[in-house]
Amino acid sequence: MKIRKAIFPVGGLGTRFLPATKAMPKEMLPIVDKPLIQYAVDEAMAAGIEELIFVTGRNKTAIEDHFDHSFELETTLAQKGKDQALEIVKDMVKLPGTVSYVRQQEPIGLGHAVWCARNFVNDEPVAVLLADDLILGVPALKEMIDAYQGGNMVAVMEVDKEESASYGMISPGSDTGMLVEVNGLVEKPAPEKSPSNLAVVGRYILEPAVFAALETAETGAGGEIQLTDALATRIGHAPFYGLKFSGARFDCGSKLGFLQASLAFARQHPELKDKVNAWLESEIVR
Ligand code: UTP
Repeated sequence: MKIRKAIFPVGGLGTRFLPATKAMPKEMLPIVDKPLIQYAVDEAMAAGIEELIFVTGRNKTAIEDHFDHSFELETTLAQKGKDQALEIVKDMVKLPGTVSYVRQQEPIGLGHAVWCARNFVNDEPVAVLLADDLILGVPALKEMIDAYQGGNMVAVMEVDKEESASYGMISPGSDTGMLVEVNGLVEKPAPEKSPSNLAVVGRYILEPAVFAALETAETGAGGEIQLTDALATRIGHAPFYGLKFSGARFDCGSKLGFLQASLAFARQHPELKDKVNAWLESEIVR
């Protein structure tokens, strides 16, 4: 089934990354040389997404600038004959009319952020990507779209049950290896209350009915309007699957995850990998 649109909720405050995120969006933090949001956009485009919808907030204009022309930069690079750099910069600009921005005036939760995009989504399923969940390896959204047959889908991965209070956790039903039926979904449960060790990570495919559920959503865990709570109301009404994606996921909203991602991506970067690996080895030996 074709999924044409993707929502990128980037309205959060990024408090775990202060002071870096005081004046700069968390989603613009770079892993090696690309901002997190660009990895997410590239993953969406690789999965065939044609329309990008950003749910932004105050202090997030750098994201809009990133995907627009920068005339001074482009002119200077052209004058200096820096063709490769010029191509990279121009590549950021998408087809006119395929990128939309809507502001979430108050950061009161991911569910609310997604709901803010409702008027950009017609009666069709839509993807949601959280840029701070960075995937190395096979792009997760493509795997999800390939497996999608209607209803709702979330990307899932196994975590230590002790960490369940940081995730939406699913109650699994039938399991075909890569696809697992979602029979229940609870946001940030205490380890002893978690229904499994399968956690939701930031890739979703939503059926239109989720927006209606968000319309009347109440605040949940952490006092925020949670996307998982709205999704849970659809269990039993529409197919709902978790996809165990193949790539490695890094939580770049946390300092440790961000550092791990920086190293893992640097170790695969054509320009850097030999030097980084040699440096890491010498550090380990020391
Ligand atoms: P997080 O749970 O990581 O929240 O949001 P956060 O506010 O960005 O970061 P911390 O916890 O304060 O450090 C997950 C994703 O949902 C978006 C964020 O921008 C991030 O991409 N989000 C969250 C919104 O767009 N709006 C919100 O109200 C909350």
